[in-house]
Amino acid sequence: MDWGMKNRLARIIKEDGRCLFMPIDHGYFQGPTSKLEKPAETVKPLLPYSDALFVTRGTLRSCISPGESIPIILRVSGGTSMVGKDLANEGITTSIKEAIRLNAAAVGMSVFIGSEYEKQTLLNLGNLVNEAEEYGIPVMAVTAVGRELEKRDARYLALCCRIAAEIGAKVVKTYWCENFEKVVYGCPVPVVIAGGPKVDTEREVLEFVHDGMERGAIGVNLGRNIWQSPYPVAMVKAIRHIIHGSGTVDEAVEIYNNVKNTEQKAVVV
Ligand code: 5RP
Repeated sequence: MDWGMKNRLARIIKEDGRCLFMPIDHGYFQGPTSKLEKPAETVKPLLPYSDALFVTRGTLRSCISPGESIPIILRVSGGTSMVGKDLANEGITTSIKEAIRLNAAAVGMSVFIGSEYEKQTLLNLGNLVNEAEEYGIPVMAVTAVGRELEKRDARYLALCCRIAAEIGAKVVKTYWCENFEKVVYGCPVPVVIAGGPKVDTEREVLEFVHDGMERGAIGVNLGRNIWQSPYPVAMVKAIRHIIHGSGTVDEAVEIYNNVKNTEQKAVVV
């Protein structure tokens, strides 16, 4: 691996080999997602506790100050929406020149394995890796399931992660599932856990993050379960304790409760 590639990976994956990526890319297919209507306001208090920001170029340019030192993982795929025919029908929306211009530490895109657009999205990944490797930019593959959340089992996710790694992704993002070690075991590159839709309790989130880490994930790329929480800073601090502090679920819950008492409840609109 060349110095540039190693350096970019070291910016997003910390010295302990772990990472907490903060995704705010949801608007690229969901529009103004709840609590992300004003991305700048949502993300500001979370930046000090995040290792990288997963974001589109539009939100980056319009909502994030260029003075911020947080590494950027640029979302470069899209072309579909919640109200369109098929979320899986994605293409590449953003060039590698743009990623370089925006000083991105990495680029990220979705693959939809098992969908009608499997081949198209896997070829998108191959082409992106071809270009990104030229400039030493790591690619994070997002193993997306579209609306079919029931697809989240170890056998399917292990297949997706392995294929994405085979095509050249340097990091793979996937959902947590039972027997998560099976997903990690067959994947030769680091795996990070996505959050998915908001779950009912904070403990549930902390439990699946803890379980995923114990079973071999290197971190999370987890958005809604942090910034849709009524206490996002408490939540990110609790998750950070599991990731970088190797904390237990009980310790993380305690951190959540302590910080919550000092944090103003996020305004519900
Ligand atoms: C959306 C994404 C998100 O980055 C990913 O799903 C993580 O966010 P969340 O924890 O809210 O699911 O790729 O397309």
